[in-house]
Amino acid sequence: MEGMDPLAVLAESRLLPLLTVRGGEDLLGLARVLEEEGVGALEITLRTEKGLEALKALRKSGLLLGAGTVRSPKEAEAALEAGAAFLVSPGLLEEVAALAQARGVPYLPGVLTPTEVERALALGLSALKFFPAEPFQGVRVLRAYAEVFPEVRFLPTGGIKEEHLPHYAALPNLLAVGGSWLLQGNLEAVRAKVRAAKALLSPQAPG
Ligand code: 3PG
Repeated sequence: MEGMDPLAVLAESRLLPLLTVRGGEDLLGLARVLEEEGVGALEITLRTEKGLEALKALRKSGLLLGAGTVRSPKEAEAALEAGAAFLVSPGLLEEVAALAQARGVPYLPGVLTPTEVERALALGLSALKFFPAEPFQGVRVLRAYAEVFPEVRFLPTGGIKEEHLPHYAALPNLLAVGGSWLLQGNLEAVRAKVRAAKALLSPQAPG
């Protein structure tokens, strides 16, 4: 994925599986399944110490790797060092935004309210995570934001499951849908879930 614009990869994939590494995962097998199913990117959270190791282990895979749950500039540095090509946070961290800009990598901070969207825009950020999406009526809020913030594309995550996808797919301001539900179960279960999700998110899908 080197040389490719990370946001273009996310837009093309429309799906961003989210992995928190607990130990024992078949990381290479997982990467292979995602690539075979046309998923271009994977977010690995820094919620466990194993997250950085997993980034390193997959940096040579064909997947675009993002680091998630980035809570400080120090974590952002470590993630970039380990091979992350983009950074995602639950909230908006100005120091991480500055670091990402200096390094030329996309930073997708979490936002919920219009004021937070404005704050991100003022920092030059227009691809934003909407988190936690389901508890905060993601589909309805993002439909309203399409009217007032047409320049922003969103990555909704948090509580999203397969049955919600047709509603997110219909949003004009969707960058990609993120979630951990996709990676639960064995590799064949993951393949089935990813395949179903991709079909529901394809621009041609009804909904
Ligand atoms: C995140 O960090 O984006 C969320 O934890 C994802 O939420 P999910 O685990 O409910 O998909």
